[in-house]
Amino acid sequence: MAGIYIHIPFCKQKCNYCNFHFSTKKDNVEELVSGMIIELDQRKSYLKTKKIDSIYFGGGTPSIIDVKHIISIIEKIYSLYEVKKSAEITMEFNPDDIKKEKLNILRTAGINRLSIGIQSFENKDLIFMNRSHNAAEAINSIQLAKECGFDNISIDLIYGVPNQTESIWEKNLQQMFDLQIDHFSAYALTVEPNTKLNYLIKKKKIKPLSESKSENHFKILQEISSEIGYKQYEISNFCRKDKFALHNTSYWEDKIYLGIGPSAHSYNGESRRWNISNNLKYITFINSGEKYFDEEILSINQKYNEYTLTSLRTIWGVSLDYLENNFDKMITSHFKKNSRKWIENENAILENNSLKLTNKGMLFADAISSDLFII
Ligand SMILES: C[S@@+](CC[C@H](N)C(=O)[O-])C[C@H]1O[C@@H](n2cnc3c(N)ncnc32)[C@H](O)[C@@H]1O
Ligand code: SF4
Repeated sequence: MAGIYIHIPFCKQKCNYCNFHFSTKKDNVEELVSGMIIELDQRKSYLKTKKIDSIYFGGGTPSIIDVKHIISIIEKIYSLYEVKKSAEITMEFNPDDIKKEKLNILRTAGINRLSIGIQSFENKDLIFMNRSHNAAEAINSIQLAKECGFDNISIDLIYGVPNQTESIWEKNLQQMFDLQIDHFSAYALTVEPNTKLNYLIKKKKIKPLSESKSENHFKILQEISSEIGYKQYEISNFCRKDKFALHNTSYWEDKIYLGIGPSAHSYNGESRRWNISNNLKYITFINSGEKYFDEEILSINQKYNEYTLTSLRTIWGVSLDYLENNFDKMITSHFKKNSRKWIENENAILENNSLKLTNKGMLFADAISSDLFII
């Protein structure tokens, strides 16, 4: 399996929690897309396969640029690769960009899955986050996407927001279930450096939600979603009717992917590579032939750590067969030895020869994986 990730680094405005790479200045979109087309050409052999299973337009906000740019990137990919008929082609959309004409054009161009950044159905939360949409737009955008024929829709929600009560979080979930969404991602709000949220917390202008309250939101999320029939197939990802996100699943399953655009990451099974997180430098360097990326060849220990970190977060868990087939005996015995205590204290179970987190263990996923790491 191989995937292509396209990073569109523009946003309408800055959400107060976000430190992904984006710019609110849109004056060099044309040059940037041309640079990405050059990068696609230059790196056409990176994946060592021509068969593509998934394409993902993420950001930033891919939905704020003119559809002609998305189409030119899709056409370029089709000219270089054999994109499988069944390929999942996702585009992230912000609710206020969802317009009938745009959706119809993109559907015809091949986009078959939408990931809509709802974050919350509550105006209070949305204002706090400095989102560019309101609650009514959030609901309407999902309805409109369905009317335009998109039957593979995912939405993003954030919990653990300051002042978000349990009942507001439950209401958010209920609203999503009422809209019959088959896939969603729910993220705990994290306070990232260089964000307004971080600044406001440091200046004591706002108080973050306590860890115990945020944990309660996570428990509510697990309880309600499983009652309604959703599978929590990754700590932050839920689906029903087996609508797993193919592209994201490949990140967790050690599959190769090519990342195009400023700040995009790539992985070819041996090394990781990440592009410069600066739009102007990306454009300049790609046109002048200068280096616009860094890379790192992964050591065997790094590969083991990454496999453990990502697999442990999924319902498929860390496969002992995979470890035995891909790593030496010392690594496998380190894993077995260190996982014992997590099984004994019921944070993990061994099932079908794979180590999987229990519901309780999911709260400590980071601590458990660092304990399993080899440093
Ligand atoms: C980087 S955004 C890109 C998609 C799109 N621009 C949007 O806003 O929906 C991808 C997702 O990351 C999540 N995210 C970004 N920063 C986060 C943070 N600090 N805490 C929790 N979730 C965050 C949001 O749910 C967001 O939908
Ligand atoms: S959350 Fe999305 S819209 Fe908001 S700043 Fe980040 S990338 Fe842009």
